Amino acid sequence: RRSLLVGGGLLLSSACSRQFAIPGSAAETDRPLPIPALLDARQQGQVIALSAQAGRTSFYPGRPSDTLGYNGSYLGPTLRVHRGDEVKVAVTNRLSADTTVHWHGLLIPGELDGGPHQLIPPGTTWRPNLPVRQPAATLLYHSHVHGLTAEQVYSGLAGMLIVTDQEEQGLGLPSDYGVDDLPLLIQDRQFQDGRLVMPAGMMTAMQGRRGDTILVNGAPNPLAAVPNRLVRLRLVNGSNARIYDLSFSDGRGFHWIGTEGGLLERSVALRSLTLAPGQRAEILVDFADGRTVSLVTGPDANASMMGMMGSTGMMGGRSAAAGPTSTMTVLRFAPRAMANSGARTSAPDLLVPRVRPDPTKAVRRRRLVLNMGMGGMMGAGGGMTLTINGKPFDRGRVDERVRLGDVEIWEVSGQMMKHPIHIHGVHFDVLRRDGGRPDLLDQGARDTVLVKEPVELLIRFDQPASTAPFMYHCHVLEHEDNGMMGQFTVS
Ligand code: C2O
Ligand code: CU
Ligand code: CU
Repeated sequence: RRSLLVGGGLLLSSACSRQFAIPGSAAETDRPLPIPALLDARQQGQVIALSAQAGRTSFYPGRPSDTLGYNGSYLGPTLRVHRGDEVKVAVTNRLSADTTVHWHGLLIPGELDGGPHQLIPPGTTWRPNLPVRQPAATLLYHSHVHGLTAEQVYSGLAGMLIVTDQEEQGLGLPSDYGVDDLPLLIQDRQFQDGRLVMPAGMMTAMQGRRGDTILVNGAPNPLAAVPNRLVRLRLVNGSNARIYDLSFSDGRGFHWIGTEGGLLERSVALRSLTLAPGQRAEILVDFADGRTVSLVTGPDANASMMGMMGSTGMMGGRSAAAGPTSTMTVLRFAPRAMANSGARTSAPDLLVPRVRPDPTKAVRRRRLVLNMGMGGMMGAGGGMTLTINGKPFDRGRVDERVRLGDVEIWEVSGQMMKHPIHIHGVHFDVLRRDGGRPDLLDQGARDTVLVKEPVELLIRFDQPASTAPFMYHCHVLEHEDNGMMGQFTVS
């Protein structure tokens, strides 16, 4: 077995950690929403320095936990880059383990991608120059060392990456960072006596690490002070495994304006939004009525599978009182009068036109099946077999070879539960779901979508990956670490 201390030294706990109450945590607190520091590449002279480091974080007062972060103790700064620029990044690894930094959603060549092939050994610095050649979007960056991704991300190695461009700026959307344009990195974590613990054991390999507490930008159930007008929320699901079903506690509607790949062509009026691990969404919410309101999540879309395991005692008896099978508060918003930023007060209908590839130009179909093999579960190896097309990840094997510039259709399906499939180096369109039309929430340029029933993804491969391949994998990080990943070259 692995040592009890992993990553930054978080103590592993069994999945059956007992429920407990932090003084004041059951009631709503007025802990303000932390806003990660903003490093704008232009203001930094196109040089961004990140240091992956260990630290201590008090998620609850007086109860420090060992954590990891970039330039700090937990999570990292928000990086803002501009379309058309080239940004020099220097990532220094001050940890005692290997790490990598993957620019999730950035369309760049394979050797800059920060996946498992761009290892940064302890004490060294990785210096990729990142060309920014894509529309404005909300992305993220995170550790991607094969076998340690889940633990390092859980411990804190993740941050937001914002791409901006003139088209987006011309729309007059709320864009005052941290004021009416809020970064919301949402993660569930398990706490014991107010300290972060890392669930371990067989069940975490199977369904991913989940927790009884939701953090936003590293704070449990915080309160965000917002102006009493239209506000833009950049929602990032940075959880290892939990799927959120987000809505407002008073049932108010909102406008969905952006996906992983950037702004939609038209805004979509919604009352709820599903966000799987790795997915992002931008929404506009009107707080003009001045009322305090919560963003809440319904049960995890995989809750029925977890319920089944719970009933057989496989969940280790964790209560459903707080956790993935219950409705939970994500954060609260307290609107107040603030100076007007000049941003628009109503959501625009038309956003950014986009040309998607012509499906009739697709030259090839490939099929990926995300498998969960129950067979070896009780075996000597102790783990279950997680694979794609029956093969667990092997960094020495190239699974698919794609020609640069080709359009293809990939049909992806998953077994046993819903899996967020993520493909590096591309944005794609969902052509069909379960043999029919895609869902309303499937639209736009995507890099991560939930699958169980087959989906058909229309993909154009514009980024080369010959010296180092791109990954495709389930973004339940424990699935990825345990083999549900493959790699492809583009040349
Ligand atoms: Cu966000 Cu391959 O990962
Ligand atoms: Cu990625
Ligand atoms: Cu999965």
